[in-house]
Amino acid sequence: LAIRRSDYTEPNYLVETVELGFDLDPTDTRVAARLTLRHNPDGRANDIVLVGDDSLELVQLRMNGKPLSRRAYRLADNELRIPNAPEEAVLEIETALKPEANTSLMGLYVSNGNFFTQCEAEGFRKITFFPDRPDVMAKYKVMLRANREQYPVLLSNGNLIEEGDLGDGRHYALWEDPFRKPSYLFALVAGKLVCQEERCALADGREALLQVWVEEGNLDKTQHAMESLKNSIRWDEERFGLELDLDRFMIVAVGDFNMGAMENKGLNIFNTKYVLANPRIATDSDYANIEAVVGHEYFHNWTGNRVTCRDWFQLSLKEGLTVFRDQEFSADMVGTDSGRAVKRIDDVRVLRQAQFPEDAGPMAHPVRPDSYLEINNFYTVTIYEKGSEVVRMYQTLLGREGFRKGMDLYFERHDGQAVTCDDFRAAMADANGRDLTQFERWYSQAGTPRVRAETRYDDASRIYEITLSQSCPPTPGQKTKLPFHIPVKIGLLDAQGRDLPLVFEGDLSEAPTTRVLELTEASQTFRFTGIFGEPVPSLLRDFSAPVILEYDYSDDDLAFLMAHDSDPFNRWEAGQRLATRHLLALTRAVQESRPLEEAAPGVATFIESLRAILNDTTLDAAFREVALTLPSEGVLAEEMDVIDPQAIHAARQYLRRMLARTLRNDLVAACNLNATTGAYSPDAASAGKRGLKNVALLYLAELDDTDSHAMTQAQYDRADNMTDRIAALMGLVNSSAPGKADALERFYTEFEGEALVIDKWFSLQASARTTHVPDVRRLMKHEAFNLKNPNRARSLIFSFCNANPARFHAPDGSGYEYWAEQVIALNAINPQVAARLARTMDRWRKYDRLLAQLMKKALQRVAEAPKLSKDVLEVVTKALADN
Ligand code: ARG
Ligand code: ZN
Repeated sequence: LAIRRSDYTEPNYLVETVELGFDLDPTDTRVAARLTLRHNPDGRANDIVLVGDDSLELVQLRMNGKPLSRRAYRLADNELRIPNAPEEAVLEIETALKPEANTSLMGLYVSNGNFFTQCEAEGFRKITFFPDRPDVMAKYKVMLRANREQYPVLLSNGNLIEEGDLGDGRHYALWEDPFRKPSYLFALVAGKLVCQEERCALADGREALLQVWVEEGNLDKTQHAMESLKNSIRWDEERFGLELDLDRFMIVAVGDFNMGAMENKGLNIFNTKYVLANPRIATDSDYANIEAVVGHEYFHNWTGNRVTCRDWFQLSLKEGLTVFRDQEFSADMVGTDSGRAVKRIDDVRVLRQAQFPEDAGPMAHPVRPDSYLEINNFYTVTIYEKGSEVVRMYQTLLGREGFRKGMDLYFERHDGQAVTCDDFRAAMADANGRDLTQFERWYSQAGTPRVRAETRYDDASRIYEITLSQSCPPTPGQKTKLPFHIPVKIGLLDAQGRDLPLVFEGDLSEAPTTRVLELTEASQTFRFTGIFGEPVPSLLRDFSAPVILEYDYSDDDLAFLMAHDSDPFNRWEAGQRLATRHLLALTRAVQESRPLEEAAPGVATFIESLRAILNDTTLDAAFREVALTLPSEGVLAEEMDVIDPQAIHAARQYLRRMLARTLRNDLVAACNLNATTGAYSPDAASAGKRGLKNVALLYLAELDDTDSHAMTQAQYDRADNMTDRIAALMGLVNSSAPGKADALERFYTEFEGEALVIDKWFSLQASARTTHVPDVRRLMKHEAFNLKNPNRARSLIFSFCNANPARFHAPDGSGYEYWAEQVIALNAINPQVAARLARTMDRWRKYDRLLAQLMKKALQRVAEAPKLSKDVLEVVTKALADN
């Protein structure tokens, strides 16, 4: 049943050209495909192998002009096989589909009356029979025919070469994509849409037409996406010398979409969430996400489309690399060093919050997996975010210039090809004359490595020693691991907090203040000379590798790093380590019913360190915001051997309130000093101010007294942008403020027509402390709730199950029962979304026994449900398996 990487074989036939004719109709769409195939000299048999989904109806099949008799081919198990085919063949295939009934949102489907496609990874097989694998690259010509009134806009990949009338109220458009591409990059869009467009000058003097397509009424929300697209184009030219290769580049927004967005050649299709923005409906983080996702999809044009993946096991080849590129893009758009650091901190937070648990759970897989049941389950934080960290490590090891050389060689060698992660690694190694053989283990071994540091200072010889040891826990199917090649960036701080020059023993030629130590063995010692006085080490600066770094820092060391480290990432990190230490001590006290006042003796000093940062106006507001944010309940859970969600929540709330009480005046001042005035702008500096102000406001809201109610209510009433409004609403909803119900209702009425804002309204309630299982069930019955719309399902169900741990893990198991019901209901509608929700239970074994038993029961209930999709089956089977 499982697909294995080691089973890869070349395709028997290659496809030269694809001509597709669509007669679009919501209930009966006809697709006429004309494929020219040629036997692949490297292929084995002379069987033409095409795949087609169950939902496809085969209407007609002809080869080289003649109908194929029922005996000339075999059609079974989603495979259409034509044995002993000629060297060259022209296949004409007619299929019939029902787009309106397609709730999976893969292949061709209808959203709000318009047609859209999603073909990655294996959606093209829901459109026609085809060698639907990324190593088959062909040129496409696409004819779209539809009723003109209902579908005035007809789009596909590449260039529009002809359009016209067909009589009968119908019209057509003919599109041609000049570049060869795999089927997963095919796209079409048809319907009532309008666009903002602009001509954009390219570096080589050409001009391109840029368009952002949306439903009528949303043209006031496209400007930021357009700006982001232009910035992306410029950035890729400057940083990587990569140009837009098309005359026309289109972005289309759709309200029903499984993921974030899709990089179809020249016709990117986006979840509305990552396109539509104006100050009234979008928050600062929405603006930042739009910039990142627009960049991400645009950058895929080179890393993904021009050079694509040989097979889906290589998915991180394009995703890890493209995430790395979009992260660098966003960082460059901020511009300042501390702005870059905040972006880095945000990315590392995602990694720790989502990827570390994945890597420690039943779905753990290498960045280049060895097998899967359903490829859609492998669009994971490991493939994307850890994959990006792996790419970042090349840059850390080779330097920015070395990395660029590697990229140049990669394109020189592989433009127009479907390749592997090994090919990328080879380009990096060869361009820099480096041996990166051991680095391959980052692709083949799952699990988060632990790096333990030990230091020794010798007063007499003035030598400082750092010993680094690595290990990696077992993961499913991988009991033992070999040492990784780990870049560990470090610095040493003297007693004044200044960086010391780092001189390696026996090498006086250089003395930088930050060095990248290359840990390649199980344990290695690095010696620095000329160190006068024992320094405080700043380890894993800028988070130079996706590992867990352990070092026995004292509380004083951490407070010192928090105040002085020149590496802003580690400055933040020191605060997080301290906070974690105190929060875990408090959690234990909660569990043992001990008084919390005495449980964490250092906590008062820690709060004073936070006060210093809060009031340090030489620091960016955005940095102060992240420094003031305590580790999430999810991150804390990963630090415990046995997870106790209620105790974690109580401990974190206790510390939040204590912080609010102690820093009350400073927090009020921060709110006043960071008020933004004038017209809203999403730039990093303004967003940082709002971020700091709102973090402060939400601390004050924890006091839940009349003063804080008044402050929150005032911000809610006066807010002229969504960032301030939603923050204030969150403060109200999590409190007992008298105006809370009224504010929730007013918010709903005011934004009833804005789907993305109503999503926020659901998600805010779903993750509120005051929301229990019965409340979520009530919200499910709200007129605006719709299980078929993934954004809406995520906003309520996922927010409750994943972002409200204290309530979801209700001791009676009612949260788990609710979860099981929703997974089963979604399974029948949209397996991909259902499987995502199923992942909620990944860590069930780590919870205390009573909860774990209840979680297991819920998992079993899902596993035994009838008609389980491969998607959900894979997730729950792996969760229940003994490893
Ligand atoms: N390639 C897209 C992106 O990362 C994601 C598409 C995921 N699609 C899916 N069916 N899993 O930009
Ligand atoms: Zn991507």
